Amino acid sequence: MRKNKWVFNSGQTRPFSDRLWLVPFLASLLVTITLLLGCAFGLFAPFHGGGDSVLLDVISLTNWDGPDIYLKDSDAEVTSAISFTNSTDSGGSDSDNGPPRIAYLITGTKGDGQRIRRTLQAVYHPRNQYILHLDLEAPPRERIELAMYVKGDPTFSQVENVRVIVKGNLVTYKGPTMIACTLHAVSILLKENLKWDWFINLSASDYPLMTQDDILHVFSTVPRDLNFIEHMKIAGWKLFQRGRPIVIDPGLYLSKKFDLVTTTEKRELPTSFELYTGSAWVMLTRAFLDYCIWGWDQLPRNVLMYYANFISSPEGYFHTVICNGHGFQSTVVGHDLHYIAWDNPPKQHPLTLSSKDYDRMVKSGAPFARKFARDDRVLDRIDQELLRRSEGQFTPGAWCTGETDGGADPCSGRGNDSIFRPGPGAERLKGLMAGVLSEEYRNGSCSSLPYDQSKRKWVTRTRT
Ligand SMILES: *[C@@H]1O[C@H](CO)[C@@H](O)[C@H](O)[C@H]1NC(C)=O
Ligand SMILES: *[C@@H]1O[C@H](CO)[C@@H](O)[C@H](O)[C@H]1NC(C)=O
Ligand SMILES: *[C@@H]1O[C@H](CO)[C@@H](O)[C@H](O)[C@H]1NC(C)=O
Ligand SMILES: *[C@@H]1O[C@H](CO)[C@@H](O)[C@H](O)[C@H]1NC(C)=O
Repeated sequence: MRKNKWVFNSGQTRPFSDRLWLVPFLASLLVTITLLLGCAFGLFAPFHGGGDSVLLDVISLTNWDGPDIYLKDSDAEVTSAISFTNSTDSGGSDSDNGPPRIAYLITGTKGDGQRIRRTLQAVYHPRNQYILHLDLEAPPRERIELAMYVKGDPTFSQVENVRVIVKGNLVTYKGPTMIACTLHAVSILLKENLKWDWFINLSASDYPLMTQDDILHVFSTVPRDLNFIEHMKIAGWKLFQRGRPIVIDPGLYLSKKFDLVTTTEKRELPTSFELYTGSAWVMLTRAFLDYCIWGWDQLPRNVLMYYANFISSPEGYFHTVICNGHGFQSTVVGHDLHYIAWDNPPKQHPLTLSSKDYDRMVKSGAPFARKFARDDRVLDRIDQELLRRSEGQFTPGAWCTGETDGGADPCSGRGNDSIFRPGPGAERLKGLMAGVLSEEYRNGSCSSLPYDQSKRKWVTRTRT
């Protein structure tokens, strides 16, 4: 008794620690209770509707890798959902044959909650799907705040197209846990049987340079089977430097973040597939991601296992699968749709963009750019001049039919989401598309031509 008391006192030397401890505790209590209630509802009323479904969606995501009892029940749901997807896939994944829909994954870490919100508001459109992920480094409070924001927004709860992964994954940014996190989000999109044609991967430090109306309008005319993924074959000395080391990602088995570990042993280079590398930012089709998740051909699984010990695996996994996978080579377009500035010669990390990059950024025609510092002034300029978005509101589009006078949010009213009002951004994107879809550019895809990342061009060897 006395000992207990002493221990208790010694742990509470600071007067505020009591309260600091109480907030997360109450928060986790709240989550536990909602979880339990949610499970009960989820088990007995799987086809729920109405106002609570956003929260239930959030909870059903938590069950995704939860205990066995829940998995049993949802397993059947998962299979049926995916086989349904596959059967409707043949004629394009969106059965109503309307304009395309994009599924976005927006990821962040500790302290990124606000940035994720801002990026979400900037890329929001009711046609699309959104999955938000704050990794395990972010405190539970931040994740709950994000979930509460999503639940509290009237547009999100009506359209039900924003999901928050409540149980964060531990992610090592250069390691395979990053791919696992991306595949987790794709699995959710398939499991929930949502409509989408392309998947785009963004981080909290990315920002759009045009409206969704611009992007959806332009992609309405782009063949839906194209995968946008910047890639190049790894060859020469780089092959030995990249392909032989074996790394281990502690995020796979520890619950705290550590750097990748490199073993002293080296391995042989693979002979059953060729290694490609490129940008970790991608826009991939549903058909290709279906193939990666299902793995009805053994390749995606073998490559995934191989990349579990590969340094910078997010810059290689999809690239290697798509360029070795049968039937997908012809769908590859070597561009990541981002404006990214590198040092010359490129260092490990891209440069942080600011106002001085504004003109180059806009001129590139890219729909997205990275990376930006939190709340940098250039983001306000992008909001004002490119997106015409007011703080805290969505980027307006033709779907916004609310009152516009007196600073009211025009997107508080929601109209037909298959009508777009493309602006100058659409013209810029059309220019970019004309370049990357040209036969000459696409000819380099999955070839052994070297690729110049700073010029974004295939280097064709011409002897002079
Ligand atoms: C559907 O799945 C089967 C394997 O079960 C596969 O052979 C087929 O290519 C898939 N179809 C599409 C369109 O993804
Ligand atoms: C997806 O986006 C994140 C940014 O949050 C990036 O670090 C990662 O490498 C990307 N790509 C893949 C394949 O996961
Ligand atoms: C929305 O607009 C499209 C294209 O103009 C039209 O085909 C569709 O019927 C409209 N939907 C509704 C619900 O009005
Ligand atoms: C594409 O590549 C092939 C050979 O790889 C070449 O014969 C052809 O001329 C190229 N086409 C263009 C448009 O560059």
